[in-house]
Amino acid sequence: MAIASSLDSSQHATKNNNTLKEGVTEKKQHITEKKFERGLRPESFSEFIGQETLVNNLQVFISGAKKRKEPLSHMLLSGPPGLGKTTLSGIIAYEMGGNLRITSGPALEKSGDLAALLTSLKDNDILFIDEIHRLKKPLEEMLYSAMEDFAIDLIVGKGAGAKSMRLSLPPFTLIGATTKLGSIAGPLRDRFGNIAKFQFYEENEMQKIVERTAKILEIGIEPNASKKISLASRSTPRISNRIVRQLRDFAHAENLSVINDETCRIGFTALGIDNLGLDEHDREYLRLIVETFGNQPVGISTLCAAYSEEKETIEEIIEPYLLQKGLLRRTPQGRVVTDAGKEVVV
Ligand SMILES: Nc1ncnc2c1ncn2[C@@H]1O[C@H](COP(=O)(O)OP(=O)(O)OP(=O)(O)O)[C@@H](O)[C@H]1O
Ligand SMILES: [Mg+2]
Repeated sequence: MAIASSLDSSQHATKNNNTLKEGVTEKKQHITEKKFERGLRPESFSEFIGQETLVNNLQVFISGAKKRKEPLSHMLLSGPPGLGKTTLSGIIAYEMGGNLRITSGPALEKSGDLAALLTSLKDNDILFIDEIHRLKKPLEEMLYSAMEDFAIDLIVGKGAGAKSMRLSLPPFTLIGATTKLGSIAGPLRDRFGNIAKFQFYEENEMQKIVERTAKILEIGIEPNASKKISLASRSTPRISNRIVRQLRDFAHAENLSVINDETCRIGFTALGIDNLGLDEHDREYLRLIVETFGNQPVGISTLCAAYSEEKETIEEIIEPYLLQKGLLRRTPQGRVVTDAGKEVVV
């Protein structure tokens, strides 16, 4: 019995250790990813490639705010993941001479969490709330007065003796980031002075981003290869960064100091990278329209039901890249897959 239980506990210990190890490995990987991403993050406007309209407007707003010695108006940044929302917020903080304080909608549990964060801000700080569409309602309401009046109302005490206390905040700028603009409630959305939409990067911009990344990672890259990587990266810098890093290993394995066509061919096959940057979800969505609906124009609500996804997810996450690549078309009658799109699903 004693032996059995000691065996049991040692088994548990091993299992727990393994889980712990897995957890630690995952955490380490996460930290490595974050470090890797930080190392590649442009720190000033001069390093930030593309998003021209957004950047030009932003530079005007920043210079105006600085001249008036006011904080920059609150900004809502929307767009698919990995296009540079966090990066741009860092640049804004740098330009405004404040600190960037980063949190996210799901990380803020209680009103007290947000109150503590808001009251710890200093003049000109930028409070960045990622995934702001996932903020809980009472916290969202706290933001209303914080954004409008630079003050929050806290309830102190309980029951009949409870009192409302107003705390003032330093002038700060809130930057909210979201992948789902359609999920932001009207009253919150209206309190942002600027709503900026990130666009997918053009092919030539992606190529510049790829070449910049290769330079920072100290690996040469041939123009053909940087073009191939740009096309396979879903017009998304985070993805192209990852591919360049992976292909650097493939080049080094062949004792090459340059990523070339051949490195791309070998690496893409080994890693299952699609030449057009498509994934299984994209193909499944196109296939649904072509096969289930015979490529007759399909309305969004029918597609939501057939694909089991919310309208916002389809319109803001799945479709933009397919539209940009010319694989899907939105017509007044509904969605249709283009000839190029049909080729992808056969
Ligand atoms: N305009 C750009 N020029 C060069 N590199 C960029 C640009 N935008 C993004 N990157 C690169 O892409 C990486 C990912 O960007 P970032 O983390 O800012 O995306 P995000 O929009 O905040 O993504 P998420 O929605 O997942 O939070 C950065 O580390 C940076 O290296
Ligand atoms: Mg981000």
